[in-house]
Amino acid sequence: MRVKVTLDPDDMPRNWYNIQHDLPEPLPPPLDPETLKPMSPEPLSRLFAKECVMQEVSTEEYIPIPDGVREAYLRLGRPSPLYRATRLEAALETPARIFYKREDLNPAGSHKPNTALAQAYYHSKEGTKRLTTETGAGQWGSALAMSCALFDIECTVYMTRSAFLQKPYRKTLMEVYGANVFASPSSNTKVGQKFLAQDPNHPGSLGIAISEAVEDCVTHDTTKYAIGSVVNHVLLHQSIIGQEAVEQMKMFDAEPDYVVGCIGGGSNYAGLAYPFMREKLRGKSDAEFIAVEPKAVPSTTRGEYRYDFGDTGEMTPLFKMYTVGHTFQCPPIHGGGLRYHGKAPSMSMLINKGYMKSVAYSQNEAMDAAITFARTEGIVVAPETSHAVRATIDLALQCKQKNETKNILFNLSGHGLLDLKAYEDKMSGSLVDYAPDDATISRALETLPKVS
Ligand SMILES: Cc1ncc(COP(=O)(O)O)c(C=O)c1O
Repeated sequence: MRVKVTLDPDDMPRNWYNIQHDLPEPLPPPLDPETLKPMSPEPLSRLFAKECVMQEVSTEEYIPIPDGVREAYLRLGRPSPLYRATRLEAALETPARIFYKREDLNPAGSHKPNTALAQAYYHSKEGTKRLTTETGAGQWGSALAMSCALFDIECTVYMTRSAFLQKPYRKTLMEVYGANVFASPSSNTKVGQKFLAQDPNHPGSLGIAISEAVEDCVTHDTTKYAIGSVVNHVLLHQSIIGQEAVEQMKMFDAEPDYVVGCIGGGSNYAGLAYPFMREKLRGKSDAEFIAVEPKAVPSTTRGEYRYDFGDTGEMTPLFKMYTVGHTFQCPPIHGGGLRYHGKAPSMSMLINKGYMKSVAYSQNEAMDAAITFARTEGIVVAPETSHAVRATIDLALQCKQKNETKNILFNLSGHGLLDLKAYEDKMSGSLVDYAPDDATISRALETLPKVS
């Protein structure tokens, strides 16, 4: 039986796919954080590469991948293989067929280089000397540190304090690539100092780390900012995943009935899902799309679809998105990349309009699935990815109950070899589950500006 398909390097996609071309309606514009009025994209070029700002608002269906980025993709593990999980299927005794796309097989260990390489490439062309960024689990920080090393740019990373303490080797990896890494909140920035004054051991969150990275950027010349998720150009770069997977599923002679992925800001899942979603939006597929979030940060399952700041310090534009509120204190779950209050605007629209569903799992539920996966398929996935594995196993068990032979495709967004503490806590029974009560979520949502 076929268990793996690979693409020839020459068959790696030459363009990124842009979902904005096919969305049921244009995305609501971002709002200026001071005036709360729709803002033009130009001010974003203080932060992002000019090319990325153009991509942010483009509705072109395809955007060519520059040769310099293609070369880096090829060198660092693309095209990535797609596997069939026959051992997991057998263990579950399910008639479902389970497929997974491997985004863990590059030196940084996750999907994040797909956009880190592209952003670093554009910045190197535009003369940027230093990039600042945030990181949750450290996966994005590692990917950007690696990409900055390859394109000769300095890199400063604000790493959420909870991950900084849980994953010391992620910090070391970033430093090996030459980055400067700070636990966030840090004393480097005004916004960091504010949160440290509230709590000297503040666990931090992606929202706070974003504020710090943005403040560091705008207060220093020749410094720009790179972002690992949520915004349109990041999701665009990630579409390489799904475009490869579309071709690879054809090689398996299968079409997915379910497309599954975990969501922090939404980038790995959008990367896999959007090239399949294109067919659904065009009425040519009735595949179901299932985004999986942690119960600890339930943006799409218990939050609201409305305008919110992208960061906790209220420095970024406001985006219309599912959110639990930018002041929501994300509990310190191991899947640090899922500790973000909001979700990508395009994904939020697709969920809101019913094209995509979302579900939530606790970290114990997710890590149980990760251990089953490790013991059947042999791969130790990232705690973030474990959420996608949980949803996949549950779908496969539903198929077993109904005796249905469905095809389930999920994104293996990263490996967990630098996240073994999560596995250790799971196996020793000390993994804590968090589920915010309604009042906590309502309080965070009350702090959102009222936008008509
Ligand atoms: C392995 C992995 N999966 C998923 C995520 C979640 O981010 P996103 O939703 O942008 O893919 C992260 C973020 O750090 C990650 O490292």
